[in-house]
Amino acid sequence: NTTELPRLTVIGTGYLGATHAICMAVLGFEVLGVDVDQAKIDKLASGEVPFFEPGLPELLTKALESGRLRFSTSFEEAGEFGDVHFVCVGTPQQAGSDAADLSYVHAAFRSLAPHMHRRALVVGKSTVPVGTAKQLAETVRDLAPAGAEAELAWNPEFLREGFAVDDTMRPDRLVFGVESEWAEERLRAAYKPVLDLGTPVVRTDLATAELVKVAANSFLATKISYINAMAEVCEAVGADIKDLADSLALDDRIGGKFLKPGLGFGGGCLPKDIRAFAHRAEEIGVGQAVSFLREVDDINRRRRARTVDLVREMLGGISGKRIAAWGAAFKPNSDDIRDAPALDVARTMHGLGGHVRVFDPAALDNARRAFPDLRYGDSAFDVARDADVVVLLTEWSEFREVDPEALAEVVKHKRIVDGRHALNADQWRAAGWEYRALGRS
Ligand code: UGA
Repeated sequence: NTTELPRLTVIGTGYLGATHAICMAVLGFEVLGVDVDQAKIDKLASGEVPFFEPGLPELLTKALESGRLRFSTSFEEAGEFGDVHFVCVGTPQQAGSDAADLSYVHAAFRSLAPHMHRRALVVGKSTVPVGTAKQLAETVRDLAPAGAEAELAWNPEFLREGFAVDDTMRPDRLVFGVESEWAEERLRAAYKPVLDLGTPVVRTDLATAELVKVAANSFLATKISYINAMAEVCEAVGADIKDLADSLALDDRIGGKFLKPGLGFGGGCLPKDIRAFAHRAEEIGVGQAVSFLREVDDINRRRRARTVDLVREMLGGISGKRIAAWGAAFKPNSDDIRDAPALDVARTMHGLGGHVRVFDPAALDNARRAFPDLRYGDSAFDVARDADVVVLLTEWSEFREVDPEALAEVVKHKRIVDGRHALNADQWRAAGWEYRALGRS
């Protein structure tokens, strides 16, 4: 019966998969979340979200109470249960290479396919190099007992950390890479409540669906590096990147989103996606078409070094100086420290002999675990005590709201580096602070 909601499995309950499973159960689907990590499954089953994401813990409670959401480590159970299987496992950067590590994706497909005894759709959501879906379709055809009846589709995911619930419940668009009418119909059924909101759908082939994701992240990364390149030019001539960016943003063909200058992009997606894309393009003989992504990456890395330089310039050297580092997460409203510019800068300054102390409202535990050699504090004011300089590295609202007059009471020198253009320079200067930010004189 095609009018009934299909039963969904979500394979891989990390950031993306857990969010998808929880939100779909809240929207009315019967959902089984599957992961090879027993500890993660136990946590989720007991109502605990293993990462920081606003709004998600409340929805997990609601979904578990509804009885529509369960968790398991069994692929056999997944094969029995699901009409549509979403594969949401990670594709991190390979150690020592720019390429994506596809071992989790291949493992998930190889584990699931032998248990697909009836007609079902497997939907890839992971970010993969173009061409991967075609290979995976073969895996499904070869290993699924239902043979040609089991089908593959590709449905890239665009959710942002910190806005994951909203981006899942009310996405800007859905992209369905499909090879048959049946697959499209199944995907439409698996998103019915979202489509009922009028969400636009692009129906396309597998390769295009894979590419949409990396093309989108590459565009966003390019926009950020573009404005940061302009900041470098501003620095050379004493111009002001903030005024420049604000002026560009008012042209609605350009727009102000992802045009915020500063320390640049980090996280588990943008940096590794542009590298993997450039690498894949070289493999398939179109490296030249996206060689600019290498430049985008270089501009972005230079921001981190330039931020350290700015602190050095201001203090006349880093060694022996007391430095308050505000922020560890790769962006606000997240506890994710993967490729976090903030921690990169803090570690470099520590390595140069600075007495660096780090505070972050959500990512302290993760930072401590990953970098136990760094020193940490309990609050923005705590780490600023007797500091020679305060360096804002992640633009949490908690930092933006700090009163410069009150902070002046605890520091040794009233010096602040605003790595994210997050503070009101006039207000800080009026309170007697030496305020510096990249791209501003
Ligand atoms: C990004 C994309 O925005 C999502 O659409 C995509 O689904 C996701 O990657 C993914 O591939 O899974 P996310 O990494 O959560 O999402 O974070 P963003 O909000 O995109 O921020 C990325 C980085 O860019 C952060 O370090 C942020 O501080 C930086 N950024 C962002 C800037 O430096 N300037 C800006 O103007 C905007």
